[in-house]
Amino acid sequence: MLVAIVGPMFAGKTTELIRRVERQIIAGRSAAVFKPSIDSRYDALSVAAHNGLRLKAFVVPPDESGVAAIAEEGERYDVVAVDEVQFFPPSLAEALDRLAYGRLVIAAGLNLDYRGEPFETTMRIMAYADKVVSLTAVCKVCGRPATRTQRLIGGRPAPADGPRILVGGGETYEARCRRHHIVPGRTA
Ligand code: ADP
Ligand code: TMP
Ligand code: MG
Repeated sequence: MLVAIVGPMFAGKTTELIRRVERQIIAGRSAAVFKPSIDSRYDALSVAAHNGLRLKAFVVPPDESGVAAIAEEGERYDVVAVDEVQFFPPSLAEALDRLAYGRLVIAAGLNLDYRGEPFETTMRIMAYADKVVSLTAVCKVCGRPATRTQRLIGGRPAPADGPRILVGGGETYEARCRRHHIVPGRTA
């Protein structure tokens, strides 16, 4: 069984991943949580939600060696969870699809980058998933459901030509609805 938890930042993806893993552990199932070494926002050895929830995690490089480590180590557990899947190469999707034949696999990641473009690895995992849990945050401008993530530089919308990967939290990003998501210089 492969469950994909997707949405913008602050939607509760990590909180939901932790909730689903914890109940499996309480029921006596063995579980391993993985996250990419790129994400060191709050804690290098845990997956950490914006609200302070934490769970111990294996930190692996966000490249083919990290995918191989998840595929190999994951086989030893009843439950395999991976947070921040958007930072891994698309081959993570096939690795998780294979693992899902023998165990529960939970994958959480961003739907879209700050420009509103889909993250390929998340998309690919969604295609293989038995269940997609699509979460929304609350738009910081109007309070409606937020499906996108606004990047801010000095309080202003970041232009479309910035780096795709920029680790951050509430100081750099806000949850926004479609109407209030702004990307100066975006062509599409
Ligand atoms: P994700 O992994 O999807 O970024 P987390 O599980 O880390 O989400 O954090 C979710 C928490 O973020 C919420 O429970 C809430 O405390 C906090 N939060 C901050 N800003 C918002 C927002 N705009 N909408 C909803 N929750 C928010
Ligand atoms: P989160 O979904 O758990 O909040 O974490 C998302 C991480 O992804 C956070 O470190 C910020 C980063 N990020 C990017 O690198 N590029 C982007 O375009 C967006 C929206 C987020
Ligand atoms: Mg998260």
